[in-house]
Amino acid sequence: MWIKRPDDIPSSEITDEKLYINRRRFLVAAGVIGATGAGLLGCNSDAEGSNAGTGADLMTAGAGQEPDDKPNTYEQITSYNNFYEFGTDKEDPKGNSAGFHPQPWTVRVEGLCKKPGDYHFDDLVKPHKVVDRTYRLRCVEAWSMVIPWQGIPLAEMIKRFEPQPSAKFVAFTTVMRPNEMPGQRRPVLQWPYVEGLRMDEATNDLTLMATGLYGKPLPNQDGAPIRLIVPWKYGFKGIKSIVKIAFVDKQPETTWNIAAPDEYGFYANVNPEVDHPRWSQATERRIGEFRRRRTLMFNGYADKVASMYSGMDLRRNY
Ligand code: MTE
Repeated sequence: MWIKRPDDIPSSEITDEKLYINRRRFLVAAGVIGATGAGLLGCNSDAEGSNAGTGADLMTAGAGQEPDDKPNTYEQITSYNNFYEFGTDKEDPKGNSAGFHPQPWTVRVEGLCKKPGDYHFDDLVKPHKVVDRTYRLRCVEAWSMVIPWQGIPLAEMIKRFEPQPSAKFVAFTTVMRPNEMPGQRRPVLQWPYVEGLRMDEATNDLTLMATGLYGKPLPNQDGAPIRLIVPWKYGFKGIKSIVKIAFVDKQPETTWNIAAPDEYGFYANVNPEVDHPRWSQATERRIGEFRRRRTLMFNGYADKVASMYSGMDLRRNY
């Protein structure tokens, strides 16, 4: 993800040259930096040093996460966020989202299904039982949190729309409201934010359409009123404030893949063995802690999801 960094460190010093040039091309095209390069936006991570994934950090890391990880506090979960529609710094989503109106809310369902239409939030959610799911969220920037969500399993929601057999993927779109979302007034990313899942991923038992956390409706900064949670994937797959769900037959475009295809793939499965081009993914820092923990394959959910990828080269399909 792009975050502010002191401008006395030239990007070329921290970044592989080819990636640096691609990134500059994107940023210049997006108008974020001028062709002379006096920009402040760059990519950074919580990893210790760039491309440190040689195994040394694994040895110094603590043991892997325990299944009974303690949830992060409400304060941590709602004040350290990535939601670029409200700004690129971690405190921006909380600071800049008070004027966002998550109600009334309508989600358009379209594409290859028998029950397309505009579903008001209550029509979408009320027919279902809300479940509690505490999941680890592993950000691609190498930090993580444990979050007690409430929501509807996406598989159940999808059943109601009766997708056709030709529907192979589900595409999601975030609301476009530049007057309520200051980040959308700048071309930091291509707006609106879009994401997608393969149909088997979308209907996996773990996949959740979250509507709340800690027993309260989702705060604006966490993706009110409805957002996706795919706990075995990097956090950027968890698209927030969804207004469109489309059933499609081809792999949809995804925001971070459009922004930097060499760095962010469609699958984005958490994989400690495949480093980000500029930092290690072998370890992570849990928000609120100083020690580093080992990152687990599929974020610790391998028993429930690994079979979906059998036979796939997970280095190529990152
Ligand atoms: N969805 C939208 N629309 N815009 C974003 O910038 N950021 C993603 C994801 N969903 C993002 C988004 C990233 S990078 C992460 S890590 C998670 O949201 C963070 O979710 P959280 O703020 O609830 O922890």
